[in-house]
Amino acid sequence: MKKKENIVLIGFMGSGKTTVGLKLSWKMKMPVEDTDKLIERREKRTISSIFATDGEAVFRQMETALLEELCESKYERILSVGGGTPVLEANRPLLKKLGRVVYLRIKPETVYERVKEDTGRPLLQCEDPLGRIKELMAKRASAYEECADLIIDVDGLTIEQIVERITAK
Ligand code: S3P
Repeated sequence: MKKKENIVLIGFMGSGKTTVGLKLSWKMKMPVEDTDKLIERREKRTISSIFATDGEAVFRQMETALLEELCESKYERILSVGGGTPVLEANRPLLKKLGRVVYLRIKPETVYERVKEDTGRPLLQCEDPLGRIKELMAKRASAYEECADLIIDVDGLTIEQIVERITAK
């Protein structure tokens, strides 16, 4: 199958994938989809409720099934995926098959400042969210890097600057 020219945004929770995706969509006149939102729409429930009722493993199966479907779709788009998507080894070739993978790399402290009031991320609902962020990020860094065609260090950059770096490539 021919490799499509989708733009796939990966990165840790709070790295700005959704916001960057929306801005890129406007700038590049391409539709944008977010895999978390597609799953929530399909399931008619939130990610938090999927985690609470069925557990993380079921959510991960939903993510992989959706990536497989998207690989078969002929529509070009910008796609932002959940922060954990590249972690599963089987998902990495699917992400690469989908198109150009852009990794929005971010520091744990910046993530913490962005998500500390947010209750919609089940993995960070714990006593020490900053510790959990650091631990998950350390485990995930190599998976993100393995997938990426382009890495952008987003700390201190505006959304416009991030979008410019992506469109310049
Ligand atoms: C997750 C990230 C979330 C969502 C789920 C699990 C993760 O997406 O898929 O809560 O494992 O990092 P965002 O990165 O859009 O917050």
